[in-house]
Formats: sequence, structure tokens, C-alpha cells
Amino acid sequence: MKTPICDFVRKYSEEGCMRLHMPGHKGSGDPETYDITEIPGADDLSDPSGIIAESERNAGMIFGARTFYSCEGSSLCVRAMLYLVMLTAKESGRRPFVISPRNAHKSFLTACGLLDIDVGWIYPSRTDREWYLSGGFGTEDVRAALESNPGCTAVYITSPDYLGNMADIPSIAALCREHGALLAVDNAHGAYLRFFGKHPISLGADMCCDSAHKTLPVLTGGAYLHISGSAPGILKRSARQALGMFSTTSPSYLILQSLDAANRIMSSAGFSERIRKMAESVSEAREGLRALGLVPERTGMEEYLKLTLRPKSFGYTGTELSEVLRKQGIVCEFSDPDCCVMMFSPSNSLTDPGRLLKAVRHTGSRKPVSGAPCGFSVPRRTMSLHDAMTSPFETLPADNNIIGRIMAFPSLSCPPAVSVAVPGETVDEFVLSCMKYYSIKKSDVITKI
Ligand SMILES: Cc1ncc(COP(=O)(O)O)c(C=O)c1O
Repeated sequence: MKTPICDFVRKYSEEGCMRLHMPGHKGSGDPETYDITEIPGADDLSDPSGIIAESERNAGMIFGARTFYSCEGSSLCVRAMLYLVMLTAKESGRRPFVISPRNAHKSFLTACGLLDIDVGWIYPSRTDREWYLSGGFGTEDVRAALESNPGCTAVYITSPDYLGNMADIPSIAALCREHGALLAVDNAHGAYLRFFGKHPISLGADMCCDSAHKTLPVLTGGAYLHISGSAPGILKRSARQALGMFSTTSPSYLILQSLDAANRIMSSAGFSERIRKMAESVSEAREGLRALGLVPERTGMEEYLKLTLRPKSFGYTGTELSEVLRKQGIVCEFSDPDCCVMMFSPSNSLTDPGRLLKAVRHTGSRKPVSGAPCGFSVPRRTMSLHDAMTSPFETLPADNNIIGRIMAFPSLSCPPAVSVAVPGETVDEFVLSCMKYYSIKKSDVITKI
């Protein structure tokens, strides 16, 4: 596969031109020499017709979608998806309404807040997925939500979630079609699923975002917005403008080159095999860790390249285990009192999962740590996301003083940027205890007038 963006910038850099254009570093240094702006021939991400358009088409061929690049992560694509949801609702003269499980990333909340989209939450209902990070939803929960919200514009799901749970997208997509709702998927963690036949677009979603940078060999910030070929025309027609509503007018050419180069890597002969071997190696380590009691059996589908350890029965909190591993040169993606999340990619060594297993064995078990995750209760909703997020607010310590106050912004630790209580909900004792459990020290609450 050709790499038109990389080729253009390399050639330009080799010409040694006098750079009387942005960026201010004038190409001195590495990687600065490859960091350019929209000079003639470099195309324009906001309305591409040259090398960027060609590169996006290449990506689209890999993902089987109409693909748009983002240099600002999936966060930008999430906002664009919700803008498209809003347009879809308005096209049919309705108010936008989105059903979503509660494990949505902060970018979903802020987008709905900005666009004044109403959200019908699916709250965690299953005891095996009791805490808010994993949302705890199944296809039947989506069915019930659709049945009780006729005229809903879209279902928005996060799959895979931060802990590696995957939803049954084909059956959720079928339900959405039945009810005339769009299916939008936050696939930030699952760009690589294309190589396992499990990418949301091939499973029936109308649109999804992938953070290429999370699981593929792409610089931080590189992401895709994919629109399915069978999605309503308004999504395909308006996606570019939807991204442009929220994006910078100075996209990073370093990130664009990285996305461009990834097309060649992903289409190379060995890539699919490499990623499958990596998944096998992760799976072997998972079984070893399961035997040690660190990975509980899951009822649903789990991700291929993520390992979520629950080390309390092994004698460690997630945070303690991640600190022990750090001392052995192994750095986890995320940890909290209950879990420790590890993300592998084809760029890891195939021996890394085995090395992790060895390090955990070497660490050895201790007396189990007691205590379950703080669970979930449904806080009282006092106002809409939009009203809450556009109200004057103050930042207060997360202590008894905030009980009874209305959240103005998501209350979260980042990562994973999943909120304990969402804007517009009133803080109660349970919410406060969850904030304490997750070491959230302060909270933005609406100013009392
Ligand atoms: C589930 C989920 N969605 C969206 C995002 C945002 O992705 P990005 O960092 O690429 O903007 C994240 C980031 O961690 C995430 O975990």
C-alpha cells in the first residue's frame, strides 16, 4: 500500500527549502523536520482532495468503511459522532435522544452536554460486572431501553470497555435496525479488532471511532472516524463537517504521517499473523494468571490484547500490584484498588506476556485483600447534562460539603475517565463514598445562586 503523506513530507524535507510558513521551529531537529503545515501539495485535512484523501481511502480499504483521520484522538471523533446523531434527529424533526450504558468516556458526556442531547442511561445491573467502569450491560438491557424509549435517535455503546469486555454488537445492531435507531460505537480500544473479524463496522455498527494510537503502531492522537457503507446518507455527507466543528485548524502532520505509515504496516503480509501470535501469547499468559486466581472467568466476550487482573485474592490491590511490577520494569496502563489493566499490541515482544506471568509468579501471593468494589447506585438526576455543564460552577474538596450539590462536570480519575456521577446528578453519600474509594479529591459542583 502506498504512503502518499509520508512520501510527500520526506521529499519536502530533503529539498531543504526556506520554510516561510508555520510551524515556528522551521523544521530544525528531528522529528521537527517532518512537521509541516498545509503547504502546496500537502492537502488539507478539513477538505482533502490530494495525499490525505488518498491515504484516508487506503485506511478505508483496510477497515471496510468510509474512514476519516483525526489528529485529536477518539475524543474528537466521539464529538463528531454525537453531532451526526443530532443532525439525524433534526432531519426528522425530533429532539436527539441517545441510549448509552453508564461506562461512557468523558468525551461522550461533554459532547452531549455541548450539543444538548438527552441521554437515557443503561445502569449496571449484573452482579458480575457491578462497578461503573464496566457498565455491566447486555443485549437485553439495550432491548429494554429501546422499547421504553420509542423514537430514540441512537444507541451508543463502549465496546471494548476499559476493562476489556466486548458487547454483542451484531445483536445490538439488529435491535437498532428494528427500532430505527443508529448504532454508534466507541471502539477507542479496538482498532486492532479489524484483524479478528470483530471490528464494529463489520459487525453492523453505523459508525465508530478507533484510537489508532491505543492499539496500533501510531503516534498518540492518531484516530479514525469510520462510517459504514450502509449507514444513512446524512452520516457520510456530513462527517467531515462534523469533525471540523470541533477540531483544530492546525492538524499535526507527524500524526498524519503516522496514520499513513500504519496503512502500509497493517496491509503488509506479516501483520495479521503477528497480531494473531500476539493474541495467542496473551491468551497463554491469561490462562496462567487465571490459574493463579488473578483473572476471573468471564461470562461475556473478552478482548484479545488486554489483560485485566483482579489481584485482591492474590494479596494485592491493583495499585499495589502495579507498583510491584513497575519495580520489575513492567508498566501497566491503569490500576485502581480492584484491578490492574495491561494493554499489549503487535509492537510488544511476543515474549512479553510470558514475562509478565513470570513476574507475577515471582511476586508470590499473600493474604487476600478484603473488600469489594464500591458498586453502583443510581444518583438523583436534577437537571440535564446541558444545563449542568453550562452553569457556573465551583471546585470543592470531595468531602461532606458536596453532599446535596449538583455535579457540573464529570467526577473521575483519568484514565479511565469514566464518571462516578454525571453532570446534573446530585451528590449523595454513596457517590461521595465512591469518589473517596477512587481517590477523587475534588469535584466541580454548580454554584448556589
Ligand atoms: C473508552 C474510551 N473512549 C474514548 C477515549 C478517548 O480516546 P482518545 O484518548 O484517543 O481521545 C478513551 C481514552 O482513553 C477511552 O478509554
